[in-house]
Amino acid sequence: MGDAVTLLEAIYRLRFVVWAETVTDLHRHYPDGRMVDLDDATAVHFVVRDDATGAPIAAARVTFLADLAALAAPIRGWFAEHQGHRDPPLAFLSRLVCAPPHRGAGLARALDHARVAIAEERHAPLAAAVASSRRARSLAAHGFVVATDRGPFAYHLGADRVPLIRPCGPVAQVLPGAAIWRIDPRAATVTPWTAP
Ligand SMILES: CC(C)(COP(=O)(O)OP(=O)(O)OC[C@H]1O[C@@H](n2cnc3c(N)ncnc32)[C@H](O)[C@@H]1OP(=O)(O)O)[C@@H](O)C(=O)NCCC(=O)NCCS
Repeated sequence: MGDAVTLLEAIYRLRFVVWAETVTDLHRHYPDGRMVDLDDATAVHFVVRDDATGAPIAAARVTFLADLAALAAPIRGWFAEHQGHRDPPLAFLSRLVCAPPHRGAGLARALDHARVAIAEERHAPLAAAVASSRRARSLAAHGFVVATDRGPFAYHLGADRVPLIRPCGPVAQVLPGAAIWRIDPRAATVTPWTAP
């Protein structure tokens, strides 16, 4: 499993399998068992792969936007207070999943680090994400803060979501727990990612 297209397809299926654990009507949103949307074609994807098979075991993406108003509903509205104030690009972190047998090993933390690092590399003045309250605590270690005192917010992947923002600033150092690969769909490239 080496090329970008094959890896991305496996990531879309991994996302579906992971989210189907908790979202009972996931098929209604993704009828073919592939959790994919239009943003996947332009996002930068980061993936940790199984040593033996090369298959993805954890993955996440960053999309770069002209404004947070470009986010899909309902998430767009959750960031209403932060729209129109910053120069592009703005980074949006989403679609983080880790396969159950590999949880607790710091893979999500490493993928968060990679995504914050690329936002900084591209001089994004703001990064944003939506998380569960437990994930929100872990993203705080990367400099994220709660974006609004409105809420609660819910969407098809869960209730009690927390919109988070991170103004640009130094990237917390994280010891890489595993090799991370970067996928650029437009160039169809899969390259090793090195922590800055
Ligand atoms: C959330 C998830 C990606 C964590 O992956 P992981 O590789 O096990 O996480 P890590 O080992 O890197 O732990 C990172 C942090 O996440 C926290 N965490 C672990 N399991 C978690 C879970 N099920 N939900 C939320 N946070 C979790 C850990 O407490 C840890 O916190 P710390 O940084 O303060 O120590 C994984 O449980 C998963 O795929 N869950 C289903 C999909 C999901 O919830 N995605 C995130 C949407 S916001």
